Order: sequence, then structure tokens, then C-alpha cells
Amino acid sequence: MTIAIIGSGNVGGALAQSLVKAGHTVLVGAKFPMSEKTLRLATIIGEDRLTSVENASRQAEVIIISTPPETIIDLLPQLGKTENKIIIDTTNTVRSKPEGYATAFHALADKTRASVVKCFNSTGFENMLNPDYHGTAIDMFMAGDDAGAKKVVRQLALDAGFAECYDFGGNDKVELLEKFALSWINLAIMQGLGRGIAFKLVKR
Ligand SMILES: NC(=O)c1ccc[n+]([C@@H]2O[C@H](COP(=O)([O-])OP(=O)(O)OC[C@H]3O[C@@H](n4cnc5c(N)ncnc54)[C@H](OP(=O)(O)O)[C@@H]3O)[C@@H](O)[C@H]2O)c1
Repeated sequence: MTIAIIGSGNVGGALAQSLVKAGHTVLVGAKFPMSEKTLRLATIIGEDRLTSVENASRQAEVIIISTPPETIIDLLPQLGKTENKIIIDTTNTVRSKPEGYATAFHALADKTRASVVKCFNSTGFENMLNPDYHGTAIDMFMAGDDAGAKKVVRQLALDAGFAECYDFGGNDKVELLEKFALSWINLAIMQGLGRGIAFKLVKR
């Protein structure tokens, strides 16, 4: 599967590495000239995987958004035709939000023809790079209205090494999933547990 990752920072870089390792064709849509972070990623995954946002999006069946949420308004025209594509929104409206929308997900759902799924937002990027805790894989969570798209996204989460990708529900659960991410940020940063923590659902 060809996957475009828009944003070459912490999250984009971690997912790019995990999904390349899983055998997917990954193109990273970056800004040029390349920033320090983008250059660092290029040395890890290969410069040939770095391209413009337009080029990466055009070739991909799945587009992962991993930029600050407010940039989505500028990015929308660069995503091109999105019919029959899946867009995964990894962003959290922690410090800023896109003008006119509650979250980047809402802007994407309103302005594109893609099936939009919220995923890879609820844990730190280090956990996306390595979801293994002492031999136990941690869990991922997703939300969105399109059940078919969520099947594809769940498989990508498993490919990236997560044990399971639990379904939070439809588009109406997207903001709850962002709050879940804020709970991780609260525990890790505000409450001082550190970024080496993760969520795992247990069942009786
Ligand atoms: N950090 C985490 O652990 C974490 C976890 C879950 C979710 N998130 C969410 O994931 C998103 C990204 O976070 P991050 O920590 O990865 O941020 P980051 O390290 O600052 O990376 C952001 C990336 O977006 C790129 N970018 C900005 N505007 C762009 C544009 N118009 N076109 C193409 N690329 C653009 C930046 O490019 P340049 O380098 O060229 O400026 C940078 O590579 C945020 O919404 C955050 O809330 C973060």
C-alpha cells in the first residue's frame, strides 16, 4: 500500500519508520527547503522518500496528517483529489486549532471527499516508534464514521506494532479521542510520569 505522510517531524518521522519497516511504500510530504528534522528523517529512511505534499498525496491510497492542526487549512488544496482515499488525522488541538473548526479532523471531513479516521494521536511519538513494553505491545485507538476505512487503519496500526487498535466510535467520538490524548499528555508531562508510559486495555 502506498502511504503519504504529511509532516516529517516527531509523529510523521516515527510512523514513516514503522511503516517502512512493515513493508509499505511510504512517501513523506515535506516543506522545502528541508528543515533540520526533515533532513534527519531523510538520513534514516532515505532522501528518495521525501517529496512535496502534492506529489506524496497524489500517489497515495492512505494519507496521514502529522502537522500542527492549524496548518490543515493551507494543506487542503495540496492534498489534491481525495475521492476513494483514506485520510488519517493524528493531530491534537492542544495549543491551536484550524480557523473555523473544532479540530483538524472536522476540517478534513468537511473539505475533502476522503474517508477520515482519527488515529495515532493518543500516545507519544516515542511509542509509535517502539510500541513494545518489556515484550508486551501497547494499544492504539481510532474513531470515524467509515467502518471500511477503519479496517484498513486498524491493520496499519497492527503493522506498526500495536497489539490492537480499538474503535472509539464514529465522528462524534473524535473530540473524546483528542481528550484521551490529553489524558496521556497530562499523565506524562503535567503529572510527571514521563513520556515512557502507554495505554493498554485489559479484559476479564
Ligand atoms: N509529539 C507527539 O508525541 C504527538 C503525539 C500524538 C499526536 N501529536 C500531534 O501530531 C502533530 C505533529 O506533532 P509533532 O510532534 O510531530 O510536531 P513536529 O515535530 O513539530 O512536526 C510537525 C511537522 O509538520 C511539518 N509541517 C508544518 N507545516 C507544514 C506544511 N504546510 N506542509 C508540510 N509540512 C508541514 C513541519 O515541517 P518543518 O520541519 O519543515 O517545519 C514538521 O515536520 C500535532 O498535531 C500533534 O498534536 C503529537
